[in-house]
Amino acid sequence: MALVKNQIHFFTESAQMIKSFFSLATASAVLALVSISPAQAAVDADAAQTLFKKNDCTKCHAVDKSKKGPSLQKIAAKYKGKADGEEKVIKNMTTSPKVKLDDGTEEEHKAINTKDQAAIKNLAAWILSQ
Ligand code: HEC
Repeated sequence: MALVKNQIHFFTESAQMIKSFFSLATASAVLALVSISPAQAAVDADAAQTLFKKNDCTKCHAVDKSKKGPSLQKIAAKYKGKADGEEKVIKNMTTSPKVKLDDGTEEEHKAINTKDQAAIKNLAAWILSQ
């Protein structure tokens, strides 16, 4: 009888330990989420879209369908998770590389008409978030 009692005691204690482990795990998961979200919320989608429209980027790019240029979702998929993705996107819109349009003709890619690095970075982050 004493043995059974001891065992019950052991189980209750273990359950308690497992419980506190999980609430600790939940607490750190919540903390991790809280510390990640400010970086993601930093993309100003309105500012990015305004800059994108003002530069006639919409003539060749749309969010979900390809026009003369690839859709933003295609561009995002190409660079998602790549360490140098943002850098590549910024380079493409600031250095006028030769690009091939959907009809096969080549032209210099339009360069963005601002030197505001924060605005350019924000636009790149927005494109990559599509
Ligand atoms: C005349 C049409 C045209 C306009 C206007 C245009 N683009 Fe593009 N863009 C293209 C084409 C075509 C490509 C595809 C290049 C390739 O895949 O080689 C491209 C590719 C891109 C890429 C992806 C580059 C890569 O490495 O895959 C980004 C980012 C981009 N454009 C951003 C912009 C932004 C921002 C603007 C406005 C400042 C803009 N584009 C205006 C035609 C255009």
